[in-house]
Amino acid sequence: MRPILIKNAKIVNEGTIYNGHVFCRNGLIEKIIKNKEVPEGICETSPIIVNASGKLLLPGVIDDQVHFREPGLTHKGDIGTESAAAVAGGITSFMEMPNTKPPCVTNKLLDEKFRIASEKSLANYSFYLGATNDNLDELLRADQSKVCGIKVFMGSSTGNMLVDNKESLEKIFSSVSLPVAVHCEDEETIKRNTAAYREKYGEDIPVKMHAAIRSEEACFISSSYAVELAKKHGTRLHILHMSTAKETGLLEESDSPTKKSITAEVCIHHLWFDESDYERLGTRIKWNPSVKTPHDREALRKAVISGKIDIIATDHAPHTEEEKNRKYFESPSGGPLVQHSLVAMLELVKEGVFSAEMVVEKMCHAPALLFNIEKRGFIREGYFADLVIVDPGRSWEVTRENILYRCGWSPFEGKTFSTAVTHTIVNGNLVYVNGETDYKYRGKQLKFNR
Ligand code: DOR
Repeated sequence: MRPILIKNAKIVNEGTIYNGHVFCRNGLIEKIIKNKEVPEGICETSPIIVNASGKLLLPGVIDDQVHFREPGLTHKGDIGTESAAAVAGGITSFMEMPNTKPPCVTNKLLDEKFRIASEKSLANYSFYLGATNDNLDELLRADQSKVCGIKVFMGSSTGNMLVDNKESLEKIFSSVSLPVAVHCEDEETIKRNTAAYREKYGEDIPVKMHAAIRSEEACFISSSYAVELAKKHGTRLHILHMSTAKETGLLEESDSPTKKSITAEVCIHHLWFDESDYERLGTRIKWNPSVKTPHDREALRKAVISGKIDIIATDHAPHTEEEKNRKYFESPSGGPLVQHSLVAMLELVKEGVFSAEMVVEKMCHAPALLFNIEKRGFIREGYFADLVIVDPGRSWEVTRENILYRCGWSPFEGKTFSTAVTHTIVNGNLVYVNGETDYKYRGKQLKFNR
């Protein structure tokens, strides 16, 4: 592996932006040179020089919630295709969800996923072990240094992984020491709302009713219950994809996820879209939890800034176009996002919603801190050289031709982003450069200091 010298970048890291150069060797960041020239003889052999003049250099994004569909659902995507799309979007590490086929609810199945990833993933990886009503022994045996967390579906979504037995939930919350990542939507409320809307509209429900069916109330009842259980048992709780203003009232403000035991994530779609977009995009923005009101979106953005919400992620969940084009009940929830998450958030930086430092904090630093990932998420000497370079002045349109997801579509199609990822470096390797991907590269398993 040849050393890499990134020159003249605007480095966005740990709350500041400064000019500098970064020298990477043997997979690690060896030297950060701030506000001065590169010293003579920094490298005996000739390194690859990347001229980052006029560009931003960020730590690689760590996405704590993706669905890459392997094994069993690979017609939607697989670890190879979706990790390649992730790398093109500036994501260098991901944590993948257990609602595959079969569901990943045993350590044996988990090992199989790690094996597949070692053979196919272009980015660094870890996997959640899924909870069921009766697999506590498997959860307690999970290797803490290897498994990112336990996923509990406290509301049903794609895959049949609902954990609805109160006794099982009490046991999980009281005995698991890994982060417990929860999908919160109250099943009874959803069922009641579904019946009411079915009565009104029959089988062909307008997609915009998704926000009323998978409602604010459904989210709040479930999130409140998760918080109540976590407080009772001292659980390390991580609430995934928060989607309502009301739920943010359950969270504490903090400048670091390490200072609290209940943390939260928000996803790109809940920060970007609102219910007025159903008219234009229909089932393409049908997600669980649903995209809701402009008021909810605004409150979620505020909660990111105030430190109530710790992480911005994707919940990347590809489905084929044919599947998505079905009528309301048959169209699966979820959509692909990993290739566009960072540029979408940098667009919000340009609109003045977030600072670039805040985007880096929520997409790079916080996941590393929250999950105790070893030597990633920051631009620091001795850390892995997981880096992304973005051109803040390069506009590009999302089109069928440049979408890398196996499903071939994006909710952002036709959107022109004003910032582009130009280089993604994974463990000191240039894996993505200006539209070209090194498909031969393989990422590493994430390690957790626990
Ligand atoms: O919209 C969603 N799709 N939400 C989830 O929780 C699961 C995901 C999927 O796997 O399709």
